[in-house]
Amino acid sequence: TDTAPRFPEGFLWGGATAANQIEGAYAEGGKGLSIQDVTPQGIMFPRVDGPTEDNLKLEAIDFYHRYAEDIALFAEMGFKVFRFSIAWSRIFPLGDEETPNEDGLAFYDRVLDELEKHGIEPLITLSHYETPLHLAEKYDGWVNRDLIGFYERYARTCFERYGDRVKYWLTFNEINSVLHIPFGSGGINTPKEQLSEQDLYQAIHHELVASARATRVAKEINPEMQIGCMVLSMPIYPLTPNPDDAVAVMNADHANLMFSDVHVRGYYPGYAKRFFRENGIELNITDQDAEDLTNTVDFVSFSYYMSICESGDPTVKADGPGNIMGGVPNPTLEASEWGWQIDPQGLRIVLNQFWDRWQKPLFIVENGLGAKDQLVEVDGVKTVEDDYRIAYLNDHLVQVGEAIADGVNLLGYTTWGPIDLISASTAQVSKRYGFIYVDRNDDGTGSLDRYKKKSFDWYAEVIRTNGGSL
Ligand code: BG6
Repeated sequence: TDTAPRFPEGFLWGGATAANQIEGAYAEGGKGLSIQDVTPQGIMFPRVDGPTEDNLKLEAIDFYHRYAEDIALFAEMGFKVFRFSIAWSRIFPLGDEETPNEDGLAFYDRVLDELEKHGIEPLITLSHYETPLHLAEKYDGWVNRDLIGFYERYARTCFERYGDRVKYWLTFNEINSVLHIPFGSGGINTPKEQLSEQDLYQAIHHELVASARATRVAKEINPEMQIGCMVLSMPIYPLTPNPDDAVAVMNADHANLMFSDVHVRGYYPGYAKRFFRENGIELNITDQDAEDLTNTVDFVSFSYYMSICESGDPTVKADGPGNIMGGVPNPTLEASEWGWQIDPQGLRIVLNQFWDRWQKPLFIVENGLGAKDQLVEVDGVKTVEDDYRIAYLNDHLVQVGEAIADGVNLLGYTTWGPIDLISASTAQVSKRYGFIYVDRNDDGTGSLDRYKKKSFDWYAEVIRTNGGSL
């Protein structure tokens, strides 16, 4: 048997969240509206005109007021790292102002103070599906080049304010998801059906330039800061051994890998240029853009929930349920209650693929099972017996250990939603990921009280033993 050490010393164990899915307080402290405040059904669904009462995100799990209590619970599990996002519209309520909103900045000072108190390293996402609504409505989001400057100002403000106490930063959450959810991911107000590929790829280009500029600015302010890109990862398998299917996989992979290829290498790969050529896409890339792109990332982070198949046969349906990307369902795999197919080995495969391709440190910043939980009473204590969640996470972490044994350089692992939060795709709270149960229901009722699930102790033990208990 392989006796090589699995998880390295200093491995960053923890959990990951996003502002709009936990904070609530959508109009407090001078916060402006974000695209989340007008998507009550989730980012996969069309927007509405303004905030509506059925939007669970407006109050979410009230982390804005309960952050100290929640961080203390993370500390009790032994978290080494906590990933959260800054709500851009707390710092720049409209997005295009010259000066930031001090109240918003002060809130994240308080969060950072609390993390520091418990010795938990912060990992901050600058843009997690939270573009200020004004930027979507006035500029059509990232389609407009002006967004680069607004984002740069926002990033600089955050780096200057927090850069001496925050080492790890991510520029855009799941940047490749803009291919599928242009409003949710890119603040692009033009309805998806009317958005041209030309505008979509120009928007992508603007995001990639903005990300690279943020990296340059961070290094100018404090070279200790480590900047990562963040992509939605999903290994794609050929549905059959037919070479047509293998080519379909290659093409589908390229569509996603382009984002991190540019982030890591600093220029567009040949396959992307071919795609632009053959689809009549003419990107406006200035000399300054090309120069900016050379500010490449320090590490590559990604989410992992599921794998998918591809087929070269146009009659095969490619709309598997329940995920942003679509794809052909895998006949050999089971799925979660939301139709996301469960594939622990896929995580090992993706870790190897990314490490082989880029030789950059990797960071798994999302992984987990969204499931319906039942609050029960055991010995007078309210809890959830979530053995299914423990099994999911354990199986995935065993594969992470395999990948580390394969030689992959991995900085850390943060589960998605260590505390129940509002789902991104469907805006439900009943799609629970947490080790901590939050008493809130899809109809908005509930006390917001927190309860430890069975998985709470399980994860604490995994961290305490640095993976030895898996
Ligand atoms: C990722 C997002 O797509 O998956 C998160 O970065 C999201 O914001 C997570 O919550 C899980 O998806 P969902 O739809 O179950 O919340």
